[in-house]
Amino acid sequence: MTGNAPRFTLTRIGNPHSVREQMIKDVRTGLTARHKSLPSIYFYDDYGSALFEEITRLPEYYLARAETEILETYAYDIIAAIHPDELVEIGAGYARKTRLLLTAIHEQEAGSLYVAIDVSEASLRHAGALLTESYPWLRVEGYLGDFGSDLGAVPRHGRRLVAFLGSTVGNLPREQRPGFFRAVASMLGDEDGFLLGIDLIKDEETLLAAYDDSEGVSAAFNKNILTVINRELDGDIDLDAFDHETKLNAETGCMEQSLRANRDVRARLDAIDLDFSLVVGESIHTEWSCKFTRDQVDEELAAAGLVTTNWWNDSEDRFALTLARRSR
Ligand code: SAH
Ligand code: AVI
Repeated sequence: MTGNAPRFTLTRIGNPHSVREQMIKDVRTGLTARHKSLPSIYFYDDYGSALFEEITRLPEYYLARAETEILETYAYDIIAAIHPDELVEIGAGYARKTRLLLTAIHEQEAGSLYVAIDVSEASLRHAGALLTESYPWLRVEGYLGDFGSDLGAVPRHGRRLVAFLGSTVGNLPREQRPGFFRAVASMLGDEDGFLLGIDLIKDEETLLAAYDDSEGVSAAFNKNILTVINRELDGDIDLDAFDHETKLNAETGCMEQSLRANRDVRARLDAIDLDFSLVVGESIHTEWSCKFTRDQVDEELAAAGLVTTNWWNDSEDRFALTLARRSR
């Protein structure tokens, strides 16, 4: 690398026109359906990304702490297993936990490149600025895109460890996961690894507290999706007409977040000439947060041509990290 090469670059891999077209399609379909819904990708504008980061610091949101504990204990082993030239992180966010992997990479003199993929430009810039400041040896490439469609556009720079932390995989409904895992498998060569963070099935009380905290940050995060829609599509949806709701779907093992109308609602999205309405008690589904068993994860990975080589739990068995490779 020359002395003047930037240590942080940002590249858009999704076509911005198709991103807006997709949003218009999702919103139109989702808000006029009998069972209304909005895809959770729209939570993550600058404010939503900051709110998620605040969620990770809440006492009730055990996920981030449990995963940090596993990384604190096993990051060295994870890196030793792959010895990557590049760490590629899907849905990187502010990449706070990633630091534990980067430290292990440096200790073992593995690669010096961190590649972050996220739909939030603010998160990529935040992570890029902080990581290049903390690690003078590191180069950071940020790719702005949708991990549901754009993973194939991320260039390869040698042996890879692909990480997908935070149990963000649980935000994909069951029917989308096979395609996602196949796309991950096609990012991997024979020597590469896939590190997946998984929230484990647990008691309902713990889950309800994690997704409806006493400070109301989870509620603000959920409602922010309406702010995003109002801003992007020139809408007049009244946020006060909706309450944050979270419940465990015992059949699927997923927490489901929604926004329930506390009165009859009529709203208009001027930019797409769309009027829609909800009756009191009707809700807009906004997010799945699915929880897993080990067998389920092994099976879903195997179906995509991936084999689990390691499994690490936190001390309270709330969360797990699994390392997988392409099966031969
Ligand atoms: N990995 C971090 C952040 C998890 S929050 C952690 O464990 O704390 C989920 C992240 O995924 C956010 O940064 C969000 O912007 C990003 N994200 C959500 N849906 C996405 C999509 N479809 N494509 C790309 N990034 C997405
Ligand atoms: C990013 N993702 C794993 C979080 C989760 O737990 O599903 C998003 C979140 N939604 C509400 N609280 C946190």
